[in-house]
Amino acid sequence: MTGPEFSGEEKRLAALTSRLPEGRSGLLRWPEAVDSTNTRMKEWARQGAPDRSVLLAETQSAGRGRLGRSFVSPPGGLYLSYLLYPRLAPEDVGEITAWVAVAVRRALERCCGFSPDIKWVNDLQWQGRKLCGILCETVLRRDRVESLVLGIGINVSTAEEDLPPQLRKTAASLRSLGLPVPEKSALAAELIRSLDEMAGDFPQGRGKYLAEYRAACVTLGREVTLSDGREAFAEALGDGFSLLLRLPDGSRRTLRSGEASLHRE
Ligand code: BTN
Repeated sequence: MTGPEFSGEEKRLAALTSRLPEGRSGLLRWPEAVDSTNTRMKEWARQGAPDRSVLLAETQSAGRGRLGRSFVSPPGGLYLSYLLYPRLAPEDVGEITAWVAVAVRRALERCCGFSPDIKWVNDLQWQGRKLCGILCETVLRRDRVESLVLGIGINVSTAEEDLPPQLRKTAASLRSLGLPVPEKSALAAELIRSLDEMAGDFPQGRGKYLAEYRAACVTLGREVTLSDGREAFAEALGDGFSLLLRLPDGSRRTLRSGEASLHRE
């Protein structure tokens, strides 16, 4: 006698659900491949996906990164998008991306036992190599925030040769750095737990997230290069997770988004 046949997605979801609290709200999907989990999640939201729904994929053919870049997504990575319908003004959602960095860091601590560094604004690194990227997208309707899609890509067991040559010096995976490599469903469950916790903490838990972020942020106290090529010194973190900079002429500047590349030591 043969038992029922389960699809790959059903098996992945069964492993994930067994690790999540019973009765957790939000739906889960975990297909093999999509173009971009963020793109598919926005589509799913338009079709009525409930708050805190999560979409994962084993690979992405058109993964998207910040600042219009692509995000190479071979098998071996964890690609996840998390949906929120927050009651927030557009000006209050800018900092959510930094909160997500704290949430992902907590998930890696709990699941893998190490505490990655945060490079402003939301890259997670270990020994100066990027392990995780975060892309938060806001869907606006009539100037109101309708939904937020929090996209997270983690290089779990990604082989170096699966990364494009230009990324091999700056990016790495848990496996290639000799860090503990968890079951993907275990890491996904910790991420979902951390994001659920974060969704409950936002915005009143700002002080706690800010303190954790500040302690983990490797950009602070360092020389950085801005996207316009200018050099600056990263002095401090502002209340909204902005980066407070001192320019060579002594003037001060506040960076709320964008990029501040670290100088090599
Ligand atoms: C970056 O480092 O520039 C951000 C990368 C964000 C990648 C994740 S993977 C899951 C989600 N889907 C996407 O298309 N992008 C995000």
